[in-house]
Amino acid sequence: MIKIAIFASGRGSNFNAIAKAVKSGLIKARLALLVCDNPEALVIRKAERMGIKVALVQRKDFTSKKDFETRIIAHLKAQDIGLIVLAGFMRILSARFVGKYKNRIINIHPSVLPSFKGTEGIRDAYDYGIKITGVTVHFVDQEMDHGPIILQAPVMIDESDTLVSLEEKIHKQEHKLYPEAIKLFIEGRLKIKGRKVKILTR
Ligand code: GRF
Repeated sequence: MIKIAIFASGRGSNFNAIAKAVKSGLIKARLALLVCDNPEALVIRKAERMGIKVALVQRKDFTSKKDFETRIIAHLKAQDIGLIVLAGFMRILSARFVGKYKNRIINIHPSVLPSFKGTEGIRDAYDYGIKITGVTVHFVDQEMDHGPIILQAPVMIDESDTLVSLEEKIHKQEHKLYPEAIKLFIEGRLKIKGRKVKILTR
């Protein structure tokens, strides 16, 4: 059975949604590890409550990014991790790290990429005044918010929406889309060809 590590730095609502999908059997994998770089993050308590192992690895404890990532890799190796799921991990992984786990790292971004990359994807889309935004799940490559796209789903921005109501709509969509994308990966149904991801039917 493939073992999953989730990397998260914050609230962990996606962590929760994925953990539920694993528990219910929708995703036939083992959620073996949470990697977190922030001791204050709510996601740590969520993992502990569910009995999921937590690796707290803080950048400040290492002199270089390389050493920081080497420690993370040691945790991943110890657990024999086959898929890394980024869910609000607020650090950019180096090319070396991404290369080691090529096509085995996925990320969720709260916009329809390539629009509105970066940490403020929801706010930037809202401020821009667009009428349709959404959610993207993609493989991670060496550029931020850039790798081959697995799934995307739209979210309408209505005139009555505030930034807060839009955030809620986006998160709701994320909690559906991320487990679906992980399920496809675990079932071996994602075939990457250049920038394109083909979804194999069963
Ligand atoms: C999500 O909006 C995700 O798209 C972004 O970071 C946020 C994480 O939220 N990458 P949560 O910690 O899962 O609630």
